[in-house]
Amino acid sequence: MGRAQERGLIRILVHQIRDYAFDRHQITDDLPYGGGQGMIMKPDPIFRAVRAVTKGAGEVPILLLSPQGRQFTQAMAGDLAQAQRIAMICGHYEGVDERVREHLAVAEVSIGDYVLTGGELAAMVIVDAVVRLVPGVLGATESAADDSFASGLLEGPQYTRPATFEGWAVPEVLRSGNHAAIARWQRTMALKRTAERRPDLLSQAPLSDEDRRILAAIERSSDEPDEA
Ligand code: 6GU
Repeated sequence: MGRAQERGLIRILVHQIRDYAFDRHQITDDLPYGGGQGMIMKPDPIFRAVRAVTKGAGEVPILLLSPQGRQFTQAMAGDLAQAQRIAMICGHYEGVDERVREHLAVAEVSIGDYVLTGGELAAMVIVDAVVRLVPGVLGATESAADDSFASGLLEGPQYTRPATFEGWAVPEVLRSGNHAAIARWQRTMALKRTAERRPDLLSQAPLSDEDRRILAAIERSSDEPDEA
């Protein structure tokens, strides 16, 4: 992210909502209507902050970050990477006035099923995932096209030298020089790993007839009693 900024490919700006609270104590939260625990972030400083920082920037998708949001995915990162600019409002766990959700944000996003004290770390996660999809940010050798999720499958095992480390050898096929056999092995391992760890991904992944044959074989071998 640092190099992408230095090279002028992206800009990341951070704004303090408190700077847009115009009362004497710059208060940004208040007691919840109806009672209850914790404080709620007031709507007016958030609206003012977002309007000020997006003014004149054309259409800017405004995301509200909160644990109640839709879970962030690689597909969402891809969509956001198309936008000229995005804005993220970092909510705090106690809550944000509902009118921010209803009338300012276009989407509410969470990064996973756990609770952070604020949306700031979530924003950094999203920025990282989006920035690396901006053309020019990654070099050819680290292209996003090879990402685990780009193929819809998890990546299989990968090795580098030495060929044997503390007695553990790299699978022979990878050192065979037989490119077709290597490609088949890698695809099989990716399918196997995905079937074992993330079977939910398989229904979405683009699979060839050969992939389906491999998966059927994997399933048969995992049904064998000594494999269980
Ligand atoms: Cl976006 N915000 C907070 N506060 N907690 C979270 C989150 C966001 N995503 C997961 N946990």
